[in-house]
Amino acid sequence: MRPGLTRRGFLAGAAGLCAAHAAPAKISDFPLPDALTGSDGKPIRSRHEWEKRRRPELMRLFAEQVYGQTPKRRVEVEYRVTSEDRHALNGVAVRRQIVAQFAGGVGPAVHILLYLPAGMQRRAPVFLGLNFGGNHTVAADPGIDLAEVWTRDPSAPRIAGGASVPYVQHTAAEGTRGSAASRWQVEKILAAGFGLATAYYGDIEPDFDGGMSHGVRPLLFATGQTVADSDQWGAIGAWAWGLSRIVDYLETDRGVDARRIALIGHSRLGKTALWASAQDERFALVISNESGKGGASLYRRLEGETIEHLNTVFPHWFCGNFHRYTGHPDQVPVDGNLLLAMTAPRPLYVASAEEDHTSDPPGEFYSAMVAGGVWELFGRKGLGTTTIPPVNTPVGSADLHYHVRTGKHDVTAYDWEQYLKFATARFHTAA
Ligand code: GCU
Repeated sequence: MRPGLTRRGFLAGAAGLCAAHAAPAKISDFPLPDALTGSDGKPIRSRHEWEKRRRPELMRLFAEQVYGQTPKRRVEVEYRVTSEDRHALNGVAVRRQIVAQFAGGVGPAVHILLYLPAGMQRRAPVFLGLNFGGNHTVAADPGIDLAEVWTRDPSAPRIAGGASVPYVQHTAAEGTRGSAASRWQVEKILAAGFGLATAYYGDIEPDFDGGMSHGVRPLLFATGQTVADSDQWGAIGAWAWGLSRIVDYLETDRGVDARRIALIGHSRLGKTALWASAQDERFALVISNESGKGGASLYRRLEGETIEHLNTVFPHWFCGNFHRYTGHPDQVPVDGNLLLAMTAPRPLYVASAEEDHTSDPPGEFYSAMVAGGVWELFGRKGLGTTTIPPVNTPVGSADLHYHVRTGKHDVTAYDWEQYLKFATARFHTAA
């Protein structure tokens, strides 16, 4: 068992999933902060009160205490379509590659891969998600530019904890094309009438302590500033900001229906997707795939990953202020249920995997269950159940959905089948 993961979490999580018809297990070890009670103790009874009072105060807490504030300042971005193939993937796709260059070449460049269904008569809805290993890993398509990926330098001495091991950037090998194809299911997405836009998250900021200086954050610092203040954005904030810059491009692409962008994120990129959605309402539908603690899951359930583990192994993800909550999950002024609620009333799908104990699947379920009250303020529906469903049995409404599938921490064909069904129903697309 990895440090920072509790054995109790492992056992309680597994038991919770098997006992589908037992009385609900405890939702959390400490009382959860309530979406529908303001910080002044007064109830939030209407959509208006949520939008005008509660949501802004939660936004401020997430920004100042968890992910760090995203600078309001704009940075110059130049988008250049570098290639187009109208007969990609044996003719089923149009493939465009776009480079987003920040600050006139001073900042990093983000490489966007866009697939659209070939022969579409109208603009396509698209899934958008960052990838972990470079665009070329998403499909075994020889036309995708090989990414410059950041990897640990094998020749560098390993430092205890691993956090500051030097990383190097190098061009990925041909043999890694399509290595993450099972996580993206491009053919299924296209066949359902959707496009897919993706970019390598390391283009926005490489994922290691010290990676910040190679990413976009310094572009938005004040003159002379070199480190983030304790309430300023961490890497998750930078990746979320990058997602919004990709939407800026998608709004200009003639093949994309930018009112129907479904944001998907897995794991740390699921945390990122939820924070991006809280800040930018252009994401019309959101999918949290096993986003775990710091995402859909609940800090106040003492199962799975701890805040200490997050802050020790990934000290660059959250803002400086979040480090004060190490060992004090009950004192974080917000929790996963409130993060999920920030997407309301837009449709949200929360998914877990049975063996992903780090993410605490029951925590992800209860979080979505409790968050449902905010959808109800808008006349929408929540999960409609207080019982964790059996594995591979999605539950919920047209607006809020949940499943826990068999297997490990991953994104699978099963997951995509559910997401495509959910998004098709909500976006009314014809397959
Ligand atoms: C680690 C980390 C999780 C994270 C996951 C991932 O397991 O502890 O918080 O979600 O990596 O991104 O795959």
